[in-house]
Amino acid sequence: MSSPATTHTNAPVDASSTRTASPASTPASPPPRKLIIDTDPGVDDAFAIALALETMSTEVEVLGLTTVFGNVRRDDATRNARTLVEMCALAGSWRREAGARLPVVDGARAPLAALDEDDRSGAGASTADDSAVLVADFVHGEDGFGGVRGAYETRPEESAVEHRAGREAADFIAEMCAKYPGEVTVLALAPLTNIALTFRRHPECSETMGELVVLGGAFEVNGNVNPAAEANILGDPEAADEVFGAFERTFVVGLDVTTRVRLSGAEIERLETVLRDADAVSPPRRCSNLLRAFLHDATQFYKAYHLRVADFDGIYVHDPTALLLALPHVRDAVFTFRRGAVRVALARDCARGAVFLDARRAWLFRNAWSDRPRVSVAMDVDVDAALRELRARLGV
Ligand code: BDR
Ligand code: CA
Repeated sequence: MSSPATTHTNAPVDASSTRTASPASTPASPPPRKLIIDTDPGVDDAFAIALALETMSTEVEVLGLTTVFGNVRRDDATRNARTLVEMCALAGSWRREAGARLPVVDGARAPLAALDEDDRSGAGASTADDSAVLVADFVHGEDGFGGVRGAYETRPEESAVEHRAGREAADFIAEMCAKYPGEVTVLALAPLTNIALTFRRHPECSETMGELVVLGGAFEVNGNVNPAAEANILGDPEAADEVFGAFERTFVVGLDVTTRVRLSGAEIERLETVLRDADAVSPPRRCSNLLRAFLHDATQFYKAYHLRVADFDGIYVHDPTALLLALPHVRDAVFTFRRGAVRVALARDCARGAVFLDARRAWLFRNAWSDRPRVSVAMDVDVDAALRELRARLGV
């Protein structure tokens, strides 16, 4: 293990649209997108958060992180999100002004079905009982960071995190969307409970939210929890089905695409190399040495999981690939979308959590997809272009 540096409105794309040949990063950059990352960190979440905070300051302005159960319990998700923000602040890269603090806001501790049950007794999403929640410790380690969190956790005198107890993720998202109508992209990297609660409690968000990017689903490939379902969707199928029915400006990327975007074992090893000019390279900016060392160490457990279940030396970079969809200029150059209504199988049988895209729509009779918004689902990717974006920012 490396020793931690202790001092240290785009309209949805039409079905027929295809990638353009232009390079992913163009010189004429649009103004930064305002971004909220809803997350359950998670090793691949950590890559996405580090990339957004440390390497995309000209492309995105992160307004806050909201946390949810998933890879780990919600309390660990919050702790991990805080750890990442503190590390990024130590590395000095995300803070626009001295003393600025980034909101990390607690979200749901359990899926909608359990919360609905709890609501009868008056508990909130943020305080609900999470004793029945299943976590992915066999993928991300017990702490979500491959067992290395303790080595990287800092307690700075002046925290870079604004952690407001009592405020919930859904309310924070709605507040930001109201403050910046049409400008906020929500990047959902975890079960969709917080996002479903946002639309339930604040229906105006279907107007005020700019875009929603979802990492989830397996449309034409097998799932990764079982043949039918991908982890984020199976984490809360009811929430996913509500969200896909709530908001048209949604971009979804699932395992069809993300399992093709892989970092190799050799690239992960290169994260350990100390780059002398890490901060000087622009564009794009690269991740700091501290974060690269952390990502290297946290990834070892995650990598072993891939070797065991997918038989390759390396990792899928699910959540960072979803982050690329939040950058419209990259999204349009790198991904090919199909539009249609998406539904999630909700029966408690072997197909629970499976997703179905209606890309056809010309049915003679009404069905469960009729009258649902047409969202954009990434079905193809220019793998080299996606990896170019990620490798350059990671410095590998
Ligand atoms: C998704 O599940 C989690 O393990 C990852 O963080 C990612 O969001 C992939 O299925
Ligand atoms: Ca995740």
